[in-house]
Amino acid sequence: MSDSTLTAGSRVFDIDAIRADFPILQRKINDQTLVYLDTAATSQKPKQVIEALTNYYEQTNANVHRGVHTLSIEATDGYELARTKVAKFINAVRPEEVIWTRNTSESLNLVAATWAEANVGEGDNIVITAMEHHSNIVPWQHLAEKKNAELRYLAADEDGLLDISELDSIVDSRTKIVAATHMSNVLGSINPIAELANRAHAVGAVILVDAAQSVPHMPVDVQALDADFLCFSAHKMLGPTGIGVLWGRYELLEVMPPYMFGGDMILEVTYENATWNDLPYKFEAGTPNIADAIATGAAVDYLTELGMDNVWQHEQELTAYAMEQILSLDSVKVLGPQDSALRGGVISFIHGTIHPHDLGTALDQQGIAIRTGHHCAMPLVRSFDVVAAARASFYIYNTKSEIDALVNGISETERYFSRCPVA
Ligand SMILES: Cc1ncc(COP(=O)(O)O)c(C=O)c1O
Repeated sequence: MSDSTLTAGSRVFDIDAIRADFPILQRKINDQTLVYLDTAATSQKPKQVIEALTNYYEQTNANVHRGVHTLSIEATDGYELARTKVAKFINAVRPEEVIWTRNTSESLNLVAATWAEANVGEGDNIVITAMEHHSNIVPWQHLAEKKNAELRYLAADEDGLLDISELDSIVDSRTKIVAATHMSNVLGSINPIAELANRAHAVGAVILVDAAQSVPHMPVDVQALDADFLCFSAHKMLGPTGIGVLWGRYELLEVMPPYMFGGDMILEVTYENATWNDLPYKFEAGTPNIADAIATGAAVDYLTELGMDNVWQHEQELTAYAMEQILSLDSVKVLGPQDSALRGGVISFIHGTIHPHDLGTALDQQGIAIRTGHHCAMPLVRSFDVVAAARASFYIYNTKSEIDALVNGISETERYFSRCPVA
């Protein structure tokens, strides 16, 4: 299958040029060229991001917001410029709405421990969906228990799409927050966030979006979604590990109590008490992750240059092709929507006779990296009466040839196991 014909939007999506930016794609795994199909866990990094990191440490390294010397000023400028780039990328009203955290998990925990801690009381309810990552389940379980509040779930239908037929009764006058994933990391389903936001706002609740799987792959506009909070991780969108984003509406962030206490987040400290710094610093206690914030800015530049419409279109083409190829295997069942137009580039599947871990190990022997396990969504995966699934996920650097390699790899593994004597 030729990849040179892949086009996205009005521009040619130059897949060869993109792949040349990712040094790791040259690696051999078990003597085979790496086929990396595990971006939903973490993406690979282009040399522009790697260079932003090394360049920072070689040329700029200094602490931010504290110094009058050149390096400190440059570090501060780079750190704040990256924040501005992220704000623009998601169409935030102002950069102060972008809080640097460690990852999506920390962003979600921050909202649970501050906004929700202050606003959820006994008898209130929190609404999430049945397809959340553990990071968007466990903080709410903990809070509900602590506050004697109820945790409610919006179910997924049999196609793996969110069932919103009961939305009006599940989200009611005692709902304080609706927290939903934008795109499921298991099913690939894309959830109707604007509709959820509409209902949440109608009852005076807020809406939080777990955008860990959407911001890296599709245009996301926090204003168009009418979101109140939105969380994502840099490492899934070409950026480094250890840094993530919490975006929140300015008016909400402004009245929220701090999450952590220490340097930078204060305005004034006496021996008796302290007052809090302005946004975004109120939520950034201590020396921040300066280098990784700057490298996240480089990742945003890279994606912006490609165009998020083009990124999304490329992935839609790959997903449509992959669904067609994978569904042609009799032995494989795909979880989630069977219609590729209703999903993003994450395909979880179960083989009729081969355990996902065996399949993952056999594919690794062929240089193909997929994910196997519960994908940090145990309740959802178990609802299919399995404890684990295999998952292939795609990004800007993947090709139709790599999907062919995956499908051939599955067939090859089937042939291998069919030759094994049955005990
Ligand atoms: C939908 C979703 N939410 C949250 C997370 C957690 O992200 P992180 O591990 O970067 O905190 C993930 C990671 O896979 C995810 O896919």
